[in-house]
Amino acid sequence: MHVIKVKDYEAMSEKACDILVKEMKSNERAVLGLATGSTPEGLYKRLIEKYKNHEVSFKQIKTFNLDEYVGLDKSDKNSYYYYMNDKLFKHIDIPPTHAALPNGKAENIAAECERYEKKIKNAGQIDIQVLGIGLNGHIGFNEPNTPFTSRTHVVKLDESTRQANARFFHSIDDVPTEAITMGIATIMDSKKILLLASGEKKAEILAQVIHGEITEKVPASVLQKHPNVTIIADEAALSKVK
Ligand code: F6R
Repeated sequence: MHVIKVKDYEAMSEKACDILVKEMKSNERAVLGLATGSTPEGLYKRLIEKYKNHEVSFKQIKTFNLDEYVGLDKSDKNSYYYYMNDKLFKHIDIPPTHAALPNGKAENIAAECERYEKKIKNAGQIDIQVLGIGLNGHIGFNEPNTPFTSRTHVVKLDESTRQANARFFHSIDDVPTEAITMGIATIMDSKKILLLASGEKKAEILAQVIHGEITEKVPASVLQKHPNVTIIADEAALSKVK
């Protein structure tokens, strides 16, 4: 694991943007794996700037998001579809058919998981997968004790994850109880992985991920086994790493 320590959230976003832009410049058909949440927002803002300054085009880029809530419509402000459109896709030149997320409103959720997994496979390998990290070590919505062999599947969300995400909803009761997520094995198939972390809240889990035991109890610990992982984290997030 290659750990890049930066000063703060802005520096983390800047560094992540540099890495993605470099990838897109060297391969204009790059396949990117994307995340939602607070962590990558600064990265997406910078990618939009790069596009507006004509430094990069997304015309031939393909993207796959990690996850989506079950039961939320695309027009629901809390769906990850809405988030991605609002924070990135509608501002850049990516063709809508190139920007994939699982469909949380599919009639047959199990079939949707299979379809999504196949779609990723058919696109070839994901060149760079961007990840944030949950307080319990989740990546995507792979909660503790998800098998490392898992592929795209439906999950019941941890109470702690629902609490952490409740800030975006009217009340905790509105937070969905299930989501579709790429599996851990799906994520590990990516050529490169870029894990972003900012803030003291992430310090404890990040220390475990970097130096702790590799265990399904801490899903992100699996990243120690991946040949090409870069962690970009700020001083606060790395404050418990010696
Ligand atoms: C989001 C995702 C999650 C988040 C994680 C951290 O697509 O897959 O694993 O990356 O919950 O969320 P934030 O960035 O809001 O702290």
